[in-house]
Amino acid sequence: MKTKITELFGIEYPIMQGGMHYVGLAELAAAVSNAGGLGTITGLTQKTASDLANEIARCKDMTDKPFAVNLTFLPTLNPPDYPAYVKAIIEGGVKVVETAGRNPQSVLPYLKDAGIKVIHKCTSVRHALKAQSIGCDAVSVDGFECGGHPGEDDIPNMILLPRAADELEIPFLASGGMADGRSLVASLAMGAEGMNMGTRFMATKEAPIHENVKQAILDATELDTRLIMRPLRNTERVLNNPAVERLLEKEETLGKDIKFEDILEEVAGVYPKVMQQGTMDAGAWSCGMVVGLIHDIPTCKELIDRIMKEANEIIQKRLVGLVNG
Ligand SMILES: Cc1cc2nc3c(=O)[nH]c(=O)nc-3n(C[C@H](O)[C@H](O)[C@H](O)COP(=O)(O)O)c2cc1C
Repeated sequence: MKTKITELFGIEYPIMQGGMHYVGLAELAAAVSNAGGLGTITGLTQKTASDLANEIARCKDMTDKPFAVNLTFLPTLNPPDYPAYVKAIIEGGVKVVETAGRNPQSVLPYLKDAGIKVIHKCTSVRHALKAQSIGCDAVSVDGFECGGHPGEDDIPNMILLPRAADELEIPFLASGGMADGRSLVASLAMGAEGMNMGTRFMATKEAPIHENVKQAILDATELDTRLIMRPLRNTERVLNNPAVERLLEKEETLGKDIKFEDILEEVAGVYPKVMQQGTMDAGAWSCGMVVGLIHDIPTCKELIDRIMKEANEIIQKRLVGLVNG
């Protein structure tokens, strides 16, 4: 399938795996790219820029296809050494960078000068327009359904995607709640040039995470995610568990006075414990409502092939049949 996104990134299918903390390691990125999509290494999961350089090299050993690196700008007082991470990305010969968190203006000139395509992930039309105006090549538009940080506007994709299509000139990916061929066809129908998936790619054979996480995803339904940190204006969609319930009780009790320090126990240092050790109640970890649509653990190739087959069938049989019938 050819779309503006497959052309821009030099990939076979318009399916991207978004950056995921402690999930987006070289194994998953390479598997997605080898299957014809665009895999992504999560930059900040690597503790230093030289660790990231090694991870990029490891990924290149596993695939000849293009892959991306995610660079997330965190709301923190002690930011990571972003210039060093950018240097590792450029020197590693990475072709695509997915930026997220805030406007990537500070790193954009370096990436563009190196011929790297930049796709910025955002949760509103105004942020997408800003990304377009500063020179991003594409955007990934994350609706309210998404796992991770949906922003504070709460606009679901049925509204957000057509709004993005009405306003944007650069191509965009639909992100949040995407799982199968139906998601891809719907994304294309609403004006996107493909789709980005996070949670769905966690339940794949190659995702380098503990089996307990994959099982929790299979067991969960669309009713099992919660929004945390809304009072801190850092809203995150996570899978419910006892730690999340404790955190939400604190939010209710402390109200507007809540500070980040009050919930440190539930959110700090959680990812290695969950993703590597499989301690599912260690704290809050991102997960999308799309868990309700995930019932198996295929390889990335099986998943992407199935999505493309289903999308083709929906378009050629069901939809063409409807207009010709
Ligand atoms: C476990 C997990 C960790 C994530 N970590 C990051 C991250 O570090 N940086 C980022 O930009 N997005 C992150 N995301 C968001 C995804 O890249 C993607 O935008 C989102 O999962 C799409 O929604 P979906 O889960 O419904 O497919 C994360 C998502 C999940 C599920």
